[in-house]
Amino acid sequence: MARVVTAADTATLERRTRDGFRRRFGRDALLVATAPGRANLIGEHTDYNEGFVLPFAIARRTAVAAAARGDRMVCVASAGAAGFVSFDLDALIQRGEPGWGDYVRGVVAESLAVGIDPGGFDAWVDSDVPAGAGLSSSAALEVALCGVVEQLTGCTFDVLDKARLCRRAEQAYAGVPCGIMDQMASVLAAKDSLVLLDCRDLSWSLVALPAGEVRLLLVDSGLPHDLGQGEFARRVEQCEEAARAIGVSSLREAAREQAVSLADPLLRRRALHVVDENARVLTAVDAIRMNDWSSLGRAMNESHASMRDLYEVSCPKMDELVAELHRAGALGARMTGGGFGGCAIGLFPAGALLPDFASCADTPSDG
Ligand code: GLA
Repeated sequence: MARVVTAADTATLERRTRDGFRRRFGRDALLVATAPGRANLIGEHTDYNEGFVLPFAIARRTAVAAAARGDRMVCVASAGAAGFVSFDLDALIQRGEPGWGDYVRGVVAESLAVGIDPGGFDAWVDSDVPAGAGLSSSAALEVALCGVVEQLTGCTFDVLDKARLCRRAEQAYAGVPCGIMDQMASVLAAKDSLVLLDCRDLSWSLVALPAGEVRLLLVDSGLPHDLGQGEFARRVEQCEEAARAIGVSSLREAAREQAVSLADPLLRRRALHVVDENARVLTAVDAIRMNDWSSLGRAMNESHASMRDLYEVSCPKMDELVAELHRAGALGARMTGGGFGGCAIGLFPAGALLPDFASCADTPSDG
């Protein structure tokens, strides 16, 4: 069943995470680091093509409570997932079970690779970011873990280094050839602001969304989406192939006519989506700056149609959810995130009566 994703309270999450740590490890945590999930307003499947994205941090976070152990072991358990992660910092850190532990292994291994050694620690993870809903629970976990490493060592990563480290962790350890949007959105996390990110040179700026004018509604379709399942990687490969066929280093460099003239219809569809989606992000930013909500809505609608027809990452149930948002009065609506399920996002006038989906079940217990 579709559910509205409501905000969750960080203080409650932090308390729950400290309590969970105490129960699991029989002592107090020394620190808690948190990071938010993200949704993307527009600019989908453009990040790994060096294009533009416009994501924002959501008011749901992942927390990691931790304390140093005084030895070289890293031991991590989670309220929301089974299994126990345990590895030796001085041995080769390899992918393994449980699968969610690969984010921990990845962030720690990538920190060691840049000369930052957190020493052994125990950690407990808890989260209000629904897993598998396309809200980047993985980036939230990576960035929160990075915060643990920072607090344990006293080092501070700069924004780009932190996002890049987390992305490397996800690519090398979770095996997802993702772009950098999710990690950047989670690291930058600013209230009531979108992040306009140019994934070619990683320059970014914040774009304020005036809260009094419009509201964004995130609805979790309840359809599980799993980026590891191969379709995502296939899209990345197809884009690389399209760029090679055009003779550019990435689809960011392709002109629309070049995309249109690709001989292979599948590569043509993929390239056209990327080229037009980049333009739509810039249109959306102009529209926001001019309070032109119908143009923003139009760009969102076109983005969804393109993800459905050209990039082929939507599915009938998601299209139906987007149609439902339109029937409820959305100025624009689209699937957000990698695709094949996850969440839809709708743009509504600030005073609108929002559609009556059930609310997302709040705060999982740390039982
Ligand atoms: C996933 C990836 C991102 C991005 C989106 C699609 O969330 O992790 O890097 O490619 O899909 O826009």
